[in-house]
Amino acid sequence: MNLMSVEIIVTGSMNMDMVVKTHHIPQPGETVLGGTFFMNPGGKGANQAVAVARLGGQVAFIGKIGDDIFGRQSSQLFDEEGVDIQGLIADVDQPSGIAMITVDEKGENSIVVAPGANARLYSQDVETSFKLYPEAKILLVQLEIPFEAVQYASKLAREQSMTVILNPAPANESIPNLYSLVDIITPNLTEAEMLTGVKITGTETAQQAAKVLQSLGIATVIITLGSEGALLLDGDAFHHIPAPQVTTIDTTAAGDVFNGALAVALSEGKTLVEATTFACQAASIAVTRLGAQDSIPYRNEILLTLM
Ligand code: ATP
Ligand code: RIB
Repeated sequence: MNLMSVEIIVTGSMNMDMVVKTHHIPQPGETVLGGTFFMNPGGKGANQAVAVARLGGQVAFIGKIGDDIFGRQSSQLFDEEGVDIQGLIADVDQPSGIAMITVDEKGENSIVVAPGANARLYSQDVETSFKLYPEAKILLVQLEIPFEAVQYASKLAREQSMTVILNPAPANESIPNLYSLVDIITPNLTEAEMLTGVKITGTETAQQAAKVLQSLGIATVIITLGSEGALLLDGDAFHHIPAPQVTTIDTTAAGDVFNGALAVALSEGKTLVEATTFACQAASIAVTRLGAQDSIPYRNEILLTLM
């Protein structure tokens, strides 16, 4: 890939997902017999980078993997997908990140992540890699890597006048320290409740939560609402973008596909309403398939669904 053509930088995690589909997610102390076990590349950062690539964006991934089979597999996959991986570092002392995922019959999941090498992405790594992409326009970040690395990447992006999209997942108490560096925040319902203290029970409370986030200094707020689509607050205007109705198999990585698609559409100059609509279309396809990166659609699938 031509270095100068990278428009979107994703800084984040790579995990190998270990997935079992079960009737229900076990309670504490309970053992359940599940279905077939499978492994699938995942990690919020990696999923978002692959989503950008499959949906037609020029993307680079900055992150850390272990010097092991999972790291090599994911690095090969990135390459095959056309993700620029010059900023992907192999850590010789730590294993690659892994995620233990259980998916129930309704497609809901429960995830435990062992971060491994993801936890050793330092600001210095980010700085070195950022220099490779002076023409990038959008930074997409999540929170499965050290907070300092996210903060530093956002600061560098701001200095380069890039648009910073924060997907605040998984949520933590440090997130408010990022608000002054972020242009667009994309919490899901649970994260929006945690960040604002507003219990979201319907449109009115979702709008209240979005307003609270905006009052804290973030210009654009997009709360994803699962099968209900997304609520966009752009300036003073609210827009509810519905999600296409689909049969849900596995919601894993729906949020990641949403964020990757949003970044692609914005990089193409689409409006926020258009970009959020595109993101809902892409994410709704992902929930009809099992797995994280296995479920990410290609651009031509979205166009087909729009016809
Ligand atoms: P996940 O953690 O499962 O990856 P999330 O909790 O981050 O997802 P959600 O709000 O559940 O985020 O979903 C993100 C987007 O995916 C939604 O805005 C919607 O566009 C799409 N989506 C999720 N679930 C469904 C569904 N059941 N039907 C259609 N679209 C869905
Ligand atoms: O958002 C989904 C991802 O969360 C999975 O791929 C898993 O690796 C965890 O990071």
